[in-house]
Amino acid sequence: MEPENKYKAVYENIVKFQDFAYIPFYITTCVNSIARLRVTEKIGATLESKKSSDDIAAELHINPDYLYRTMHFLALNGFFVELPGNVFQHTQLSLTLTDPSVRDETLMMNSNIFNRSFETLSESIVSGVSMAPKAWGATDLWDAFGKDPKEETEFTLGMTAITTRTSPVLAELGNYSNYETICDLGGSQGILLAEILRQYPSVKSAINFDQAYVFENSKGQDRAITKNPRYSEHPGNFFESVPTADLYILKSILHDWTDEKSRLILNTIAKSCKPTSKVHIMEYVMDDGPKGNEAYVSMLDILLLQVCDGKERTKKQFEGIVGGTPFTIETILKPTLLHSQNIIVLKLK
Ligand SMILES: C[S@@+](CC[C@H](N)C(=O)[O-])C[C@H]1O[C@@H](n2cnc3c(N)ncnc32)[C@H](O)[C@@H]1O
Repeated sequence: MEPENKYKAVYENIVKFQDFAYIPFYITTCVNSIARLRVTEKIGATLESKKSSDDIAAELHINPDYLYRTMHFLALNGFFVELPGNVFQHTQLSLTLTDPSVRDETLMMNSNIFNRSFETLSESIVSGVSMAPKAWGATDLWDAFGKDPKEETEFTLGMTAITTRTSPVLAELGNYSNYETICDLGGSQGILLAEILRQYPSVKSAINFDQAYVFENSKGQDRAITKNPRYSEHPGNFFESVPTADLYILKSILHDWTDEKSRLILNTIAKSCKPTSKVHIMEYVMDDGPKGNEAYVSMLDILLLQVCDGKERTKKQFEGIVGGTPFTIETILKPTLLHSQNIIVLKLK
């Protein structure tokens, strides 16, 4: 029997606690629902745009009372401006959600697979390993996606949205003018490679290496990159073998894996690469990014620990991983944009 805790919180602090602890979840949930229903698009595409929730409900064939109550709650939290007659006007926040890339990112960040994983977060904190597979009934995140093509498509759309936004900056930061063959490991839709091929005509071959089902699921989509003769897709497993290339990109890959697994990926590359090959790890370096990144990256760290036993890392933690491989860190390139990633450049020792 635990000793009785005699602490009695002050009423005023309980109110503060309620606002802090509960409201953000409901904001997230309501934003996710209106993103899924395409509500903000119906208002319009300028800051002056406004429309009544009744008209939006009629256009979308959804319930006007439930929609009003959802939009009213969001307006009270600064997401819309509410005007008389159930009319809602955009703020910068709601207008931003009308951008399809922001909608896709929102749906990925609040996907069923991510949200369901959090059912077992407290169990993960107890055990020190992700208990999300128990919540999913799958062996791991990639198995969960493999079993659910709809969720995999939503995840891919979200990653594509983020990668499309940041690729021009990363392609410039990485300077790819001196590499003939570039292989993007876990390159998904080939967005980053498309941008590299656009910025660097000297790159002769861009190989997108990913799991077979990723390419299978995107078959039938009209992707311009697949018509580029300098681009190819190579299905495979980066724990087994990878193609030979002058430069390997690992963008948002190592943060999905434990230190041990991350070393295995780097060791697979070391077995196939040339003595002069380089590796570009595109990841947030927690203590070496732009000021103001930390809360955002720490949120991603919680997501990663739960969905895949992964983590966002500090400079020292990256040094720890690379130290156990044939590679060494040559330099770390720093982004200037908020919520953008560093590039850790590796060469063979
Ligand atoms: C977080 S996503 C990153 C996608 C892309 N690099 C980006 O930044 O938009 C991780 C990618 O790694 C791929 N992946 C996971 N396990 C893999 C494996 N064993 N071999 C090859 N690719 C793998 C996934 O299919 C997915 O496309």
